[in-house]
Amino acid sequence: MTASTATVAPVFERLEAAWKRSDRMFELLAPAALAERPIALRHPLVFYVGHLPAFTWNMLGRGVLRRESPRPEFDRLFDFGIDPEEGQEPEDAHDWPSLEEIHRYRDAVRERVRASWPDVERRAGEHPLAERGRIYHLVLEHELMHHETLLYMFQELAHERKRGAAWWSAPVTGPPARAARRVRVPAGEVTLGADLDGPRGIEFGWDNELPERRVRVGELEIASLPVSIGEYLRFVEDGGYAREELWDPEGWEWTRRHGRELPKDWARRAGGLVVRAMLADHPLRDAAGWPVSVSWAEARAYARWRGARLPSEPELHLAAYGPSDEPVHGKRSPRRYPWGDDAPVAPRHGNFGFAHHSPTPVGSHPGGASALGVEELLGNGWEWTSTPFLAHEGFAPTIPEYAGYSRDSFDGKHYVLFGGSWATDPKLLRRSFRNWFRFNYPYPFTQFRLAWDA
Ligand SMILES: [Fe+2]
Repeated sequence: MTASTATVAPVFERLEAAWKRSDRMFELLAPAALAERPIALRHPLVFYVGHLPAFTWNMLGRGVLRRESPRPEFDRLFDFGIDPEEGQEPEDAHDWPSLEEIHRYRDAVRERVRASWPDVERRAGEHPLAERGRIYHLVLEHELMHHETLLYMFQELAHERKRGAAWWSAPVTGPPARAARRVRVPAGEVTLGADLDGPRGIEFGWDNELPERRVRVGELEIASLPVSIGEYLRFVEDGGYAREELWDPEGWEWTRRHGRELPKDWARRAGGLVVRAMLADHPLRDAAGWPVSVSWAEARAYARWRGARLPSEPELHLAAYGPSDEPVHGKRSPRRYPWGDDAPVAPRHGNFGFAHHSPTPVGSHPGGASALGVEELLGNGWEWTSTPFLAHEGFAPTIPEYAGYSRDSFDGKHYVLFGGSWATDPKLLRRSFRNWFRFNYPYPFTQFRLAWDA
């Protein structure tokens, strides 16, 4: 192995593993389910079989190497996913190619990626993503993010559309493992984002992570754990969905339009409330310890009902990683991870990386606690923040072929999510990584916790 091949060997290994996992994901489905569009705002599932290789080729082949793929018409057909507003659902106008054809395209793209490094290396200096093989991190992280997107779409399918798989583990249910406490977080300055170079530089980051920046945060109190399903039930029983004063105007209008009176995974059955998981429904009392997964609008209404609010992105960083310079309880800060500098290990530090194929009861991972004793910060569910997803000082699109990656969502209706879910790969758990969704998008695996002004 030459020194230059050694640079990319680890990322190639992870890419091969991610491809295997992508293929396994689709095994969960009954074949007819591929034609379905479980979320009306998204493409049918078959699109994603072709999208993963198409995106890979469009970034690496067309972008960095300026080359055609084996099927240029597929590069275009499967190019980008979509994020339309409600009421602008796409028409499914395509006759999609056969699965066999899409698989041939996928395999041909993968073969070209495996052989591409010498050519990519020669483009260093000419394309920013050729530097140190960053393009491979980009296509790998795209694949990893889609594993999660696929799963939350699969969750929307009727259970009989899924056949399960031997590798899919049984959900971990039960009451909360511990009760939430109010934790005082002293004021401080946090470090958000990261630089690609320098002593704390990251090997790869998306445009919205860059550059590193400092933000001053005032003192606050924050819940040590996210809100559980059992706690949220009391809001439902108190008529929370019918009390306009608890809702922001847009959120209220949205719940009225859909006649919403429960989180989207809950349903009333003859025997009582049930909560939908991937392959089965569970009686709510069994799932009561899971963090409740709702939209930002619902999380806000709940927080108001409790006389609290959602924490901002910088506040969560302060609670999780500590201030930029001063030591917290004698530890160097900011930490790489809430628990310290050790690489993430599941389930010791949290429920991520498919350690389980479901959420786990809140409080099950005290080994992931921050210096201040705030828990469940990475894993289980992406955590809603009160921070709109907007351009920050120093923001610039950094991917020439995907300049709209973040910019297209800078509309004031998307909010930043922090942390990660049970379906988030550990590679994405770096401090600077961010997620964002619309205020009324209820599908991702999310959670939220309460905060109070000090
Ligand atoms: Fe994508």
